[in-house]
Amino acid sequence: MIIKNVEIVDVHGSRPGNIVIQEGVITDLDYQGDDYNEEIIEGSGYTIMPSFIDLHCHLREPGYEYKEDMESGMKAALRGGYTHVCAMANTKPVIDNIELVKKNHDKSKKLGLCDLTQICALTKNFGKEYVEFKEIMQETKVFSNDGVNVNERETMERALAYSKALDFLILSHCEPEVETVRRDLDILKEIPGNLHICHVSEHETINIIRLAKDQGIEVTCEIAPHHIFESEVDYKVNPPFGREQDRKALIRAIKEGTIDICATDHAPHSKEDKDQGAPGISNIEVAFPMYWKVFNENNLSLEKLSEMMSYKPAKMLDLNCGEIAVGKEANLVLVNTEKEYLMDINKFISKSKNNPFHGTIIKGEILMTIKRGVIKYDNR
Ligand code: DOR
Ligand code: ZN
Repeated sequence: MIIKNVEIVDVHGSRPGNIVIQEGVITDLDYQGDDYNEEIIEGSGYTIMPSFIDLHCHLREPGYEYKEDMESGMKAALRGGYTHVCAMANTKPVIDNIELVKKNHDKSKKLGLCDLTQICALTKNFGKEYVEFKEIMQETKVFSNDGVNVNERETMERALAYSKALDFLILSHCEPEVETVRRDLDILKEIPGNLHICHVSEHETINIIRLAKDQGIEVTCEIAPHHIFESEVDYKVNPPFGREQDRKALIRAIKEGTIDICATDHAPHSKEDKDQGAPGISNIEVAFPMYWKVFNENNLSLEKLSEMMSYKPAKMLDLNCGEIAVGKEANLVLVNTEKEYLMDINKFISKSKNNPFHGTIIKGEILMTIKRGVIKYDNR
């Protein structure tokens, strides 16, 4: 496949190119030769970026397939420009053993849509007893009780010690946010561990993380699109929408580099469940245009967004993608970065349409999503 006359944007910058893909891998960025016999994609006027990698979403399988299943969630993800998603473990039953992790990995391979990192619970059924880390690490190196807080300090202390000893990653849902982030970072001063903080939403949390990073503590964190898109929205999500001051602090924290990752926290729920108070927003299809609108308004670059949506998550998951270079997997997204349009939840492929920003202007349209050289979504 050849993608011609396209603007290449990734963490390393922006430059024009002609990308050649052979057997799923990028083999040339500046091809000038004869191109008959190849599948040619005319990219002029468009931008090609590394496809996105979501460190945090909910695909609801097993048990809540009426909200989302792997197939609908991954098709939605591809529409949003993602080729790799990490799915949280707050399913029914909770994914807390190797069989359940493997079952989802096998299913995802069969589907052939996105690549999947199935996250496993940190503790059995989100209780006090740890899962079988060593055994489960044959399938996944990411553990999280997302959806609920790890309440006991000691549980987090020992989990962090294990994460370092065995080399796995903990994604921490902190609720209440400020207190729990303070506690977790306090633990890290004594006990080094591999900790990533989910969906940071408050000004004060940013201050705590910045201070810890300044002191040399190794920790990473993410945001979700809705928390920088708008403040004080009356719509249930955990963590809740912040004040305008919080939103501004998050944007400043992106600029200064305190926030590492732009995730989604895609949390599909049926209308009935939302009416009963289920927290969350269905957003994986519109995460990029939500982020890009806010980045654009705040003089943050597309390169920076690419770093936060692709490059850094690839590094954290140890994937050979997330940037556009010879030898990297051809996981790419073709984008019209200039297009502004209204979000339409009725176009969602996701089974769930719970997003409060229906009818709001967003920026940047995904035209095509390519995974290892194969077109998985095409909207040209
Ligand atoms: O809003 C949220 N929804 N926050 C969470 O932590 C969990 C998620 C869900 O699973 O619906
Ligand atoms: Zn969470």
